[in-house]
Amino acid sequence: SQLEIFVDELPDMPRIKGFHTVNGFPVPKSLQIGMFHKKWKFHRDLPPTTVFAFGLSKDTATIPGPTIEALHGIETYITWRNYLPSKHILPWDPTIPTAIPSTKKGIPTVVHLHGGIDEPESDGLSTSWFTAKFKERGPTWTKKKYHYHNFQHPGTLWYHDHAMGLTRVNLLAGLLGAYIIRDPNVEAPLRLPCDEEFDRPLVVFDRSFRTDGSIYMNPTGNNPSIHPQWQPEYFGDAIIVNGKAWPHMIVRRRKYRFRIINASNARFFKFYFASGLGFIHLASDSAYNEKPVMVNDILLAPSEIADVVIDFSKSKSDSDILSNNASYPYPSGDPVNEANSKVMKFIIKPHHELDTSRIPSKLINYPSPNLSSASLTRYIAMYEYTSKIDEPTHLYINGKSYEAPVTETPKVGATEIWNVINLTEDNHPLHIHLGLFVALDQTELVNIDEFKECMSKNNDAIKCHVGKYARGKKIEAPTHEKGWKNVYKMTPGYVTRILVRFSYIHSNESYRFDATAEPGYVYHCHVSNFPDTMNALLHYFRSIMA
Ligand code: C2O
Repeated sequence: SQLEIFVDELPDMPRIKGFHTVNGFPVPKSLQIGMFHKKWKFHRDLPPTTVFAFGLSKDTATIPGPTIEALHGIETYITWRNYLPSKHILPWDPTIPTAIPSTKKGIPTVVHLHGGIDEPESDGLSTSWFTAKFKERGPTWTKKKYHYHNFQHPGTLWYHDHAMGLTRVNLLAGLLGAYIIRDPNVEAPLRLPCDEEFDRPLVVFDRSFRTDGSIYMNPTGNNPSIHPQWQPEYFGDAIIVNGKAWPHMIVRRRKYRFRIINASNARFFKFYFASGLGFIHLASDSAYNEKPVMVNDILLAPSEIADVVIDFSKSKSDSDILSNNASYPYPSGDPVNEANSKVMKFIIKPHHELDTSRIPSKLINYPSPNLSSASLTRYIAMYEYTSKIDEPTHLYINGKSYEAPVTETPKVGATEIWNVINLTEDNHPLHIHLGLFVALDQTELVNIDEFKECMSKNNDAIKCHVGKYARGKKIEAPTHEKGWKNVYKMTPGYVTRILVRFSYIHSNESYRFDATAEPGYVYHCHVSNFPDTMNALLHYFRSIMA
């Protein structure tokens, strides 16, 4: 039976400061954050669910994990500790490239700070996994204590598991959380809603549950004769915000800032208010827009972040429902149903309040994309190799598996143009580590079957004369997504042209870490069933010195 909606109150996850204050001055801090096996209540009427949760201790561990609040320019060190049992709570499939400990005991995990611009040894490469007590370690594991520089611009990031072949199940089990970098020098003058009460992360994902409360994941693969358990995507019918299914939040009649993170494995959300109440969009992923942009809906792919203000003083009623109408898979799948079309409810207090926060006319100005500075143009094709039973069995980037030697070696500090060719049926949110990028434009491919035919033989976009096909409709990024991003939605059947800056640095700070070291970085589609399976749409690159 369907759970009653809007009964639980929206939690705010515990906040952990990523810095100490000594004599009034912030200084670096070292944290130990564990991954624990525990029970979590997703809904008043659902029995407790067994999960894997991040926290300072087992008792305080939450789903999502604590929100880490770092300060621009002040380093945070985190030792991520694995206290997980020897067996997973969800089915996973060893027939795909997967981190498997030699003893077959223990759950490999590794944490990636999504949106972080950090040294490769602290980036959480999929093969740098480790099991409980660091007993077993993946081939590229180098150290326990991760170093986060926090010297990038202020904004919202999130941390999540990134282990090879297990990312999808480790995320489903609960290994994710928000991370905020603040910079009072540049943010305080903006006078946006702040304070814990008015500046809140909303971590949104979908899950299905059995009546006993356990997380439901179809245990039979789509293509069971080859992969007994592997499914290319996961969709759940319950929409979870900050660890509660369809929660409600009682708000004052004033402005709030929400950092909305889509932490789903495969579900896109198109958020809107039925009442027409809009969103004032401040930042996309980890970087501010130049100016606030008023929007009525927000399409958010897995791993994308929308940092918005909602002004409840503009609401004409005493409640409003945050809704969703993105089909799943997006865009070719089913339309939303009664359950997954609702996200959460805001109950708005009747009286107007004094609100000293404001929406500035300008936010933060980053260097605009400079096409003439691009030193290289690359073609990155996403292509599905279809088996006899018409199931994608291989979904590769440029026809290369993850283990294939590095083909992209961008120079540290370089700017490049990447033409990302999506020959699949679905939209793939491409995420690039280390670099921020700007989506320049998207061009439809005409006679796509002819082009695909050539690509399946040659796997070389230039040889296949991509220019001859890329001359259909053009789409431009919407205004609120024109800035620097770390994920962008690659429209199926289109070539998306992006301008990437590797180790993007705001202002004129010098590089403080060696991006050229081993083990390198990855770029991948963030449908988190894809990157860790088939090595699909997961590829790595190594930065090199100029
Ligand atoms: Cu959000 Cu490589 O990941």
